[in-house]
Amino acid sequence: MALAARALVAPHAPAADPDFARDVELGLTSPRKWLPAKWLYDELGSALFDAITFLPEYGLTRADDRLIRRAAHDLIHRAGHPRLIVELGSGSGAKTRALLEAATRDAFVEYVPIDISAAALEHCQASLSGIPRLRVTPAEGAYLAGLDRALADREPRARALILFLGSTIGNFGRGQAGPFLREIHRRARPGDSFLLGADLVKPEPVLLQAYDDSLGVTAAFNLNLLARINRELGADFDLSRFTHSAVWNSRSSRIEMHLRSRVAQRVSISAIRREIRFRPGETIWTESSHKFRPPQIRRMAERAGWHFAHQWLDSEWPFAETLFTA
Ligand code: AVI
Repeated sequence: MALAARALVAPHAPAADPDFARDVELGLTSPRKWLPAKWLYDELGSALFDAITFLPEYGLTRADDRLIRRAAHDLIHRAGHPRLIVELGSGSGAKTRALLEAATRDAFVEYVPIDISAAALEHCQASLSGIPRLRVTPAEGAYLAGLDRALADREPRARALILFLGSTIGNFGRGQAGPFLREIHRRARPGDSFLLGADLVKPEPVLLQAYDDSLGVTAAFNLNLLARINRELGADFDLSRFTHSAVWNSRSSRIEMHLRSRVAQRVSISAIRREIRFRPGETIWTESSHKFRPPQIRRMAERAGWHFAHQWLDSEWPFAETLFTA
């Protein structure tokens, strides 16, 4: 295809994460350009995401917090008073505080926050250290590897509650969410529970504003991916020649984030020795954020082996916390 990337004879390339370089090469040389969303989260990208959670247009994180705070005691009771709480992608752990306080009211509990960011885990440990009867054991790395370690190290009769909050499940591809839930279920044993936080379908204008806010924070979060490729892979993206775009794909029930080329242009990326061409209006697809209907969440987890226990809904910003047992 005429638009395919052309190999460059680059004299030298800066040291780069080989996985990042491989994904960038694969994504930007495919006929429909795309990049995996996980690369949005370098240090600056994570700080920009934190800023997004404060935006008036983005109600998702506040709804998640609100539901957890309101349901905390009921949830701990329904989960059978777990002695081990493992959180996949904890970040700073702020939204989990209410749950941990409820769980430790009359028992000692171990909390294992799993995250790829060492900085977030440090912050998490420091901010939760004052809760009586709570031991925080951070695990840096991938979700399933961290979960394996946490469950293997538990006391023989300790029940576990596994948390996957913030609607991160919505960022998985349609074909990836089910297998991931099955992998979590495979590691759990009878008596364990799983709490899944997922954002719900809402009117299109509300969703579009949430992913294309008036301050431009989400645009900066998205464009930072190109800036990251410049910094880490020695590319020469001119950020002013790309715009952030958020579109609602109703058939797939998801918001898609794209970076749209304003003009015909070529960009060179020295670490992969490539020159990438863009047509005017051509986009790089950088993230999908699926939105669910409450029964869909239940069905998706049941197909992965979980048993439905209870669902809490937020009416201010439609969002669901759904509890399952193994
Ligand atoms: C992390 N994740 C649940 C966010 C979402 O809403 O899909 C990431 C995000 N992307 C743009 N704004 C927020």
